[in-house]
Amino acid sequence: MNIIPKPLSYVDNNDSFQITENTVICLTEINFELEKVATRFKDKIKQISNINLEIKRQIVRSKNTIKIYITKTNLGKEGYKLTIKSDGIVITAEASNGVFYAIQSLYQLLPAEIFGSEFCHKKIVLKCCEITDSPRFSWRGMHLDVSRHFFEVEFIKKYIDYLAILKMNIFHWHLTDDNGWRIEIKKYPRLTEIGAWRASREGIDWRDCKPQQPGEHTTYGGYYTQTEIKEIVQYAKDRFITIVPEIEMPGHSSEVLAAYPNLGCTGGPYTVATGTYWPNNDIFCAGNEKVFTFLENVLNEVIEMFPGKYIHIGGDEANKEEWKKCPKCRKRMQEENLQNVEELQSWFVKRIEKFLNSNDRIMIGWDEILEGGLAPNAVVMSWRGEAGGIQAAKAGNDVVMSPGTHCYFDHYQGDLETEPKAIGGYTTLKKVYSYEPIPSELTPKQAKHILGAQANVWTEWMETPEHVEYMIFPRMCALSEVLWSTADSRDWNDFLIRIKAFIKRLQILGINYCYLALVKKIKNSELNRSFE
Ligand code: ACM
Ligand code: ZN
Repeated sequence: MNIIPKPLSYVDNNDSFQITENTVICLTEINFELEKVATRFKDKIKQISNINLEIKRQIVRSKNTIKIYITKTNLGKEGYKLTIKSDGIVITAEASNGVFYAIQSLYQLLPAEIFGSEFCHKKIVLKCCEITDSPRFSWRGMHLDVSRHFFEVEFIKKYIDYLAILKMNIFHWHLTDDNGWRIEIKKYPRLTEIGAWRASREGIDWRDCKPQQPGEHTTYGGYYTQTEIKEIVQYAKDRFITIVPEIEMPGHSSEVLAAYPNLGCTGGPYTVATGTYWPNNDIFCAGNEKVFTFLENVLNEVIEMFPGKYIHIGGDEANKEEWKKCPKCRKRMQEENLQNVEELQSWFVKRIEKFLNSNDRIMIGWDEILEGGLAPNAVVMSWRGEAGGIQAAKAGNDVVMSPGTHCYFDHYQGDLETEPKAIGGYTTLKKVYSYEPIPSELTPKQAKHILGAQANVWTEWMETPEHVEYMIFPRMCALSEVLWSTADSRDWNDFLIRIKAFIKRLQILGINYCYLALVKKIKNSELNRSFE
């Protein structure tokens, strides 16, 4: 059994079942979402085998069927039971989500060629088995920063495909930051006319980039139109993935201020950052009402595009020096009886939370939103270790764990001598695999607030899709198991056996995975790139 993430239970026997021209897919429910799942499975089988499966909207008694039942299973919405017998396959789940995951498992029971797009001469034969499965955590996420480097729609879809294969269900899309605004907002066209473009410094070390010079043209950038965003949201939904969009505030906002300088404390001029500079004092003015009008108008369009319940507002690393000097900000602090700039950020964030809650959305932010007092219903994304997450869970707020120690996939994963340049850190495959998202000091009641975890992919040093693939694979395989499989079932040596089969799938998918992350762990001969 080579499934990643490892299922809850797997029992096999010696029989087998072959999918043939006469195999019929039977659905118990007329349900558009379920039909789409079944149709994509049918299309996949057709693509690689030329077998044209019939879909029937009723259960037929005959043998040689793939029967899909939507019924109570006690395995939750994402759980499923997959039974392969000599006369057919039965999938039972409470919702289409579970059926989708059953099919993902089914793919991993088939020859790796199923992941390709080419005709495969092998017969589609499955070993008989019974799998009962459901995830440990509800937040199984991957983040991607498209501000530091921009990635085309085609790659975003591939990224979503990668999540789906591993039964991940959250795509945290980091759409805005100092280096570029990436989402079309109809009310504020300068965000993409100006904010999406920076002076190109490609090939220069990210920390050495000279800021944009007077008169210099801005040529590096790009953004997603609202039409493209909607298409991607639907693409993700079809794979049972919710997109959590992130709009950064109050810091990491140089690109907005470059477009609308009156929203900053100083009035500028500002430029879209070409690299990272510390300190970066650019920040939205917390004393200017126009800032809140702007942010609410932007969020209104964001809410319109993204139907998921979570909206991420950033909140990390806001340098508040300007707030200390700005008359408007000082006035605000006085009026609202705020003792320091941390309390001013907290006031800012709580105001945005109220707006999001009134629009039926849940606000999520990096753990800095705890400073100066946490907003009542906010979800905390704990990145500076787990302390923020622990504090929030103890206070009764929900938490997503993403500590730099285990979940930053921009860190090195192998020998620093041979790896491509990365931001720093050292987060090996084994380290990711060892991650336990529930801190031991939480009571069972507090632990329920840990929704799950995610890996963050900051792209300062990743200019191409191939480089992003290299940083996420194979580490995402380890993370998927941390988040889906039970803590008891985690076994590093067993994972290494299963990952060999997974590597073959990555090769067929044409993914540029980090080969050296596996060397010494698996015999070189077994990793041979030309596995044929
Ligand atoms: C972060 O890594 N600045 C959230
Ligand atoms: Zn100000």
